[in-house]
Amino acid sequence: MPVTCVVGAQWGDEGKARIVDLLSGDADLVVRYQGGANTGHTVVVNGKTVKLHLIPVGVLREGCVSVVGNGCVLDLKVLFEELEMLARSGYPVDPARLRVSDRAHLVLPYHRALDAAYESARGAGRIGTTGRGIGPCYSDKVAYKGIRVCDLFDDPSLEARVLSNCEEKNRHLGALGAPPVDAAAALADLRASRDRVAPFVEDTAAFLRDAIAAGSRLLCEGAQAVLLDVDHGTYPYVSASNASVLGVPAGSGIPPRAITRIVCVAKAYATRVGEGPFPSEETGAEGQRIRERGREFGTTTGRPRRCGWFDAVAARYSVSLCDADEIALTKLDILAGMERLRICTAYDIGGRRVDRLPADVGSLRAAKPVWKDFPGFEGDLSGCRNIADLPAGARAFVDAIEREAGAPVRLVSVGADRAQYLTR
Ligand code: IMO
Ligand code: MG
Repeated sequence: MPVTCVVGAQWGDEGKARIVDLLSGDADLVVRYQGGANTGHTVVVNGKTVKLHLIPVGVLREGCVSVVGNGCVLDLKVLFEELEMLARSGYPVDPARLRVSDRAHLVLPYHRALDAAYESARGAGRIGTTGRGIGPCYSDKVAYKGIRVCDLFDDPSLEARVLSNCEEKNRHLGALGAPPVDAAAALADLRASRDRVAPFVEDTAAFLRDAIAAGSRLLCEGAQAVLLDVDHGTYPYVSASNASVLGVPAGSGIPPRAITRIVCVAKAYATRVGEGPFPSEETGAEGQRIRERGREFGTTTGRPRRCGWFDAVAARYSVSLCDADEIALTKLDILAGMERLRICTAYDIGGRRVDRLPADVGSLRAAKPVWKDFPGFEGDLSGCRNIADLPAGARAFVDAIEREAGAPVRLVSVGADRAQYLTR
């Protein structure tokens, strides 16, 4: 620790939550710094599955304080549903264990409505968003129109701004052929939420800096991933926040120099949900097999994920951008029984070998993978707890990923439960 960051090195759904849950055993605070309810973080504790969208997975450790940082976009309805779900699942959360930034932006009904309306207007050019209002909420933030958590407590200003925003958004929705949102209901909901959220609200940036000064151990939980980062991902097929480690200081107030350890999480293969270029996608039987064995269906939307092979160009890019100390490799067990394994080591773009991720979607769409093939391995890996327990073929594959991606693979997960991993 003192400040460890866990970020996705691919297109999301790498198993970040599983790694955060594991590392949170040594953390005092777990911090979300970006994203919102588009996130689907699944943790399995003692055979019981918990799915979280907004609240950091640190909430599952009694000794941990969870922090929703200023860089997150907060849907209060989802927050309250999640608190209720946690209480029902045996994880009641009192306000001392969950601090929510007074500066986080709120997701309002018009954000969800605009998300859906923009997507249908895009037609074939749709992004495939999760429909949680994420892009429109961040758009309002940078257009100086956002409503923040602290605004809930200044009623006259809240009323004026919500009503004026609703009027403007309803004009946009009308132009897109979508029904308007009910401004009075939106305002009433916010007023009804105020007292309920108040005990959780904090200047979290100051809180975190105080915690660091006091010697607390922090764990930052990335949502989405480097290739979905609004600045560094495969734009415009991205999510609207800075998901890479570069988003940590801005989205939490943690000083950049306080970060001591950076872990990039990658699956032993690749998946992507929604639209956008995916050079190592495997649309045939092998991809289908990965989807079924890996249960690659979205946590937030239930959509089947597109599946493919490990893309070392993409992983190298993420490792380099994040200056990762190490890689945590997940779902290696899923590949057991495949006849052959592949790694995309470079792209062939118009007959030219390209080792770096190009910026433009056109080049990425034209990119043909340069494959390196490996013999498959057999067996049930879920009981392996030491690197020596792995079949030789699995070890060779991990070695190759490490070489190609450019950072040591220190942790390999072989199952969803807390104990199902090994270190190397
Ligand atoms: P976790 O944290 C995978 C994708 C969506 C879409 C694009 C934009 O579980 O890894 P948005 O609703 O954010 O505007 O959608 O980003 N996306 C994710 N894909 N995992 C996620 O989160 C994602 N969050 C957003 O599918 O392509
Ligand atoms: Mg997910």
